[in-house]
Amino acid sequence: MIDIDFFRKIFNSYLVKKLSTKDPLSLYEPISYIMELGGKRLRPILTLISTDVFGGNYEEALDVALAIEVFHNFSLVHDDIMDSAPIRRGEKTVHKKWNINTGILSGDVMLINSYQYLENYEPDLFKQLLKVFSKTAIEVCEGQQYDMDFESCDHVTISDYLKMIKYKTAVLVAAAMKMGAIVARASEKSQTAIYDYGINLGIAFQLQDDYLDAFGDPKNFGKQVGGDIIENKKTYLYLKALELATSEDRNELKNLFSIRPTDPQEKIQTVKEIFVNSGAAEETRNQIKNYTQLAFEILDEIEVPQDKKRIIREFGTKLMNREV
Ligand code: IPE
Ligand code: IPE
Ligand code: MG
Ligand code: MG
Ligand code: MG
Repeated sequence: MIDIDFFRKIFNSYLVKKLSTKDPLSLYEPISYIMELGGKRLRPILTLISTDVFGGNYEEALDVALAIEVFHNFSLVHDDIMDSAPIRRGEKTVHKKWNINTGILSGDVMLINSYQYLENYEPDLFKQLLKVFSKTAIEVCEGQQYDMDFESCDHVTISDYLKMIKYKTAVLVAAAMKMGAIVARASEKSQTAIYDYGINLGIAFQLQDDYLDAFGDPKNFGKQVGGDIIENKKTYLYLKALELATSEDRNELKNLFSIRPTDPQEKIQTVKEIFVNSGAAEETRNQIKNYTQLAFEILDEIEVPQDKKRIIREFGTKLMNREV
């Protein structure tokens, strides 16, 4: 039976075949490094599943899957520079292992490579794929800009936050699925439906990412726990805590999010306590369930065989319960 692990294996072996390290090594080694550090491969798996679900040949979608995953990894390399993140997938981030300039330039090549993988499609398909891909890539940049602007803005609303995560994260998850549907020559109605599914799943996914950033287990999380708190990120946890906390805690939280102490451990500890005591942590968990449920409701309406839906649903459930 075709399952998620099957698609992950297929994708990973395709990736290994396509990766090559050549001169100048200082440009290409960081690319192999980040790509080979692994990651969940969520987006390319969703692309392959989507093609399969809509009756296409998943092998035909491998280059789209590769384009999406390389783009995602490019965005991580640059994101880690912007977030001053030291650790990714349990190892040093590219700019820490090498330097910032390497992170910028190797990232640039990855972005360009991701477009090259689409060159293999015939002109009509290529054009359709390119349109979705480019629109998505720009939206990711817009989301990333909001994310950074919000660090120093003290009137961010929950609705601002939801728009920000839709752009920085959900649109790529959605595009991964839509592009899979395009390869399968699915109807426009199906393309839109699977895109909407991806948006809701992507929002749940980013809420979970924010939750794990504060409450993940340092032993297996693979990133610096508390990184968002150090960077004063306006996450759902933070915004909900401002809404629900006692006025004393609210003032303390605001104050803590206006400073950047050299040793942040005490700040992280206090902020996490406020997240829990205010009920914001619980509310975030509820919202993760809520957006996953919304995604499933959209899925129910899509006209594909039940057994195909099951694999998408199973993947959504796994994501909601993940710890990495
Ligand atoms: C991290 O994405 C960046 C976000 C959009 C939250 P993933 O959690 O998919 O990272 P990897 O690829 O599995 O490492
Ligand atoms: C990253 O969001 C989104 C993109 C890379 C576009 P985060 O900054 O929360 O991702 P992590 O937590 O570093 O993986
Ligand atoms: Mg980050
Ligand atoms: Mg970021
Ligand atoms: Mg994060």
